[in-house]
Amino acid sequence: MTKRISLTRYLVEQQREHGHIPAQLRLLIEVVARACKHIAISVNKGALGEVLGSAGSENVQGEVQKKLDIIANEVLIEANEWGGHLAAMASEEMDSIHVVPNRYPQGEYLLLFDPLDGSSNIDVNVSIGTIFSVLRKVTNNRGVSEEDFLQPGKQQAAAGYCVFGPQSTLVLTVGEGVAMFTLDRETGSWVLTQENVQIPEDTKEFAINMSNMRHWDAPVRRYIDECLAGKEGPRGKDFNMRWVASMVADVHRILTRGGVFMYPWDQREPDKPGKLRLMYEANPMSFLIEQAGGMATNGRQRIMDVVPGKLHERVAVVLGSKNEVQRVTEYHLETTH
Ligand code: AHG
Ligand code: MN
Ligand code: MN
Repeated sequence: MTKRISLTRYLVEQQREHGHIPAQLRLLIEVVARACKHIAISVNKGALGEVLGSAGSENVQGEVQKKLDIIANEVLIEANEWGGHLAAMASEEMDSIHVVPNRYPQGEYLLLFDPLDGSSNIDVNVSIGTIFSVLRKVTNNRGVSEEDFLQPGKQQAAAGYCVFGPQSTLVLTVGEGVAMFTLDRETGSWVLTQENVQIPEDTKEFAINMSNMRHWDAPVRRYIDECLAGKEGPRGKDFNMRWVASMVADVHRILTRGGVFMYPWDQREPDKPGKLRLMYEANPMSFLIEQAGGMATNGRQRIMDVVPGKLHERVAVVLGSKNEVQRVTEYHLETTH
């Protein structure tokens, strides 16, 4: 029988080998993984679980909340607030931070999440997911405020996502490479199915919402125009396009077979740096991508170096296969503003 390595065993052995997963962090990761299992169950029930459709409310970003956005948010909060591993949580679906109530001990970590990524795909039965990022609380007084969260992504202690597709897959980094775990629905256990994930440096596949083309900046247009020109163009090869519209699914494809993903700044909302949120979408994905040998920038700067000014800050995103991200970034840097 082949040896099956559970998430728990993986974390224990990683701690033994590298000593970078203290007990509180291990508990945190296991609790998030368990919460993702609960979310997966709700996702799989679909219409039978009455989880589809709109909740009739709006979040702080002005987006209409789906029932599953709210369910996933609640599952993550309830699972995480009592364990003693966290000081506070922040979420796409909450205006301000959720401090661990006084009745529970307070831990040293901060957890950020996009409880349900790809909301527009929930009702149409296309892959969606949960994204999370873990920071350490730098100050050690009991009080915790939004300021504590405003750390650049390079300070993340762990990050990951769970994609709910034909399989449920948990993808994790604690800063020593990327590992993937597949949910065994019969035993209810997350089983290690891939270690040392590596993204090929070159690719022929790009992911961008082409319907926004007329709003893009010149460097993004140039890059995509060159891809579209194919074999006869300056790149001398044909490209393929994929856009799931769930960042988790697009990033999962890139971690699996390479590619470049872009959600650039565009002229629709010129005052916003981009659509995606820095702290619970771009940072955790950038950590995973870099740990797998890829690259992640906002077109000009490494995403994980961006110092956030606020919790729900947005950022332009270019990530994936190194040589393509490098090229898009160079095109931006050659253009002066
Ligand atoms: P969320 O559902 O958490 O709001 O995030 C959706 C994001 C991201 O997952 C995806 O890449 C992008 O929005 C899709 O945007 P378009 O609808 O513009 O394609
Ligand atoms: Mn999202
Ligand atoms: Mn979301």
